[in-house]
Amino acid sequence: MDHYPFPPGPRGAPAQEYALRRARDRLGLVRLPSGDTAYLTTTYDDAAVVLSDPRFSRDLSRPGSPRMFAGFTIGDAPGSLISMDPPDHTRMRRLLSGVFTPRQVNAWRPRLRAMATALIDSLPAEFDFAHDLAFPLPVQIICGVMGVPDIDTAKVRGWSDAMMSTSRLSEEEKLAAAMEFYAYIAELIAAHRDDPGDGLLATMIGARDGEDRLSEEDLVRNTLGLFLAGHETTGSVLSRSIVRLLDPRSGYEELVARPELIAGTVEELLRVEQPGDSPLLRVATEDVELPSGVVRKGEGVIASFAGGNFDPSVFAEPQEVRPGREAAHLAFGRGAHYCLGANLARMELQEILGVLVERLPGLALAVPGEKLAWTEGSIIIRPVEVPVLKEVP
Ligand code: HEM
Repeated sequence: MDHYPFPPGPRGAPAQEYALRRARDRLGLVRLPSGDTAYLTTTYDDAAVVLSDPRFSRDLSRPGSPRMFAGFTIGDAPGSLISMDPPDHTRMRRLLSGVFTPRQVNAWRPRLRAMATALIDSLPAEFDFAHDLAFPLPVQIICGVMGVPDIDTAKVRGWSDAMMSTSRLSEEEKLAAAMEFYAYIAELIAAHRDDPGDGLLATMIGARDGEDRLSEEDLVRNTLGLFLAGHETTGSVLSRSIVRLLDPRSGYEELVARPELIAGTVEELLRVEQPGDSPLLRVATEDVELPSGVVRKGEGVIASFAGGNFDPSVFAEPQEVRPGREAAHLAFGRGAHYCLGANLARMELQEILGVLVERLPGLALAVPGEKLAWTEGSIIIRPVEVPVLKEVP
């Protein structure tokens, strides 16, 4: 039986196992790092059903539930939005969603543009796109959304990296990083409790203290979840995307010449440059028939984004960036757990690329693309560093 997750292909591309399995065993079992087994979808239609059908649960705390990893996994921690089922999930999601509406997010556009412009203008002639730009900007934004201006970005990045490890760190080291992060967020909340400002954290603290709807633990866990979800994926998609656009440079040059293509290109970059496949398992609460077969009650299933987003029956020549495709990608999921930050993430990617092509039309990789090192032993697949030059040499 194949072991999941599969090692990525060249330049972080999805492994060819997805295409092979799609041809031979569309909904087959895989062996998970925990030793348990689960079904892996490989088609768009199967993934879309698993993500949307309420008979698949994200609550893996029931005895006997399969697990992705044997030890601690942030995504499966009970009490986080992403591991709850309705009605608890609906209640918590309603509480958080007000700040992420298209209207609220659009109100952030000018601020984000100003932040991006200031940061990009301050960078030296050669810089590391990932470390100096792709991660710090989303951290600044999520801090703004939360209403917490004073977060220690380097520490948050360190904990986040550690928690995404699959084999690089031991279970103890991962847990230690999560505990430190947890303690840091608990302190942050304590420090902001008397003067919470007017961001999302204030809403969450208000809900906890005023109406007793969020327990202290829920408050800390979900604040941590937002800091993590709010920057890790966006920074990784951005780092991967710039490599795709600059190597060869024709992708970037096209956006410099026609910035109106940015919004459509971002959708395609989200589809093809997802930093890894889904690390989240679901469990069938009854027998469910999918287009490609049945998942029996109690069995685990992974709704694969890499499988669905590269399904050639939905996206012809799936590895190519072709703005304006008809089908919606699965990069933000589907159904009840559809990415809460999707509007924000889209806007960040659009605005950052917009400022880049305007301010740095000569941006170029400082090393050949094939020389870039990619993450290993992590859920997140991205280039470790992306050295770039502001001007083509
Ligand atoms: C390019 C960037 C991003 C990508 C590709 C992405 C992707 C996803 C996906 C695929 C899911 C659903 C997982 C599943 O159902 O198995 C999800 C959920 C979530 N995302 Fe994002 N995300 C991004 C950025 C963000 C940002 C910026 C935030 C917050 C500010 C955020 C917050 C969340 C939250 C809170 C959930 C859980 C929602 C729920 O369980 O109801 N994400 N994201």
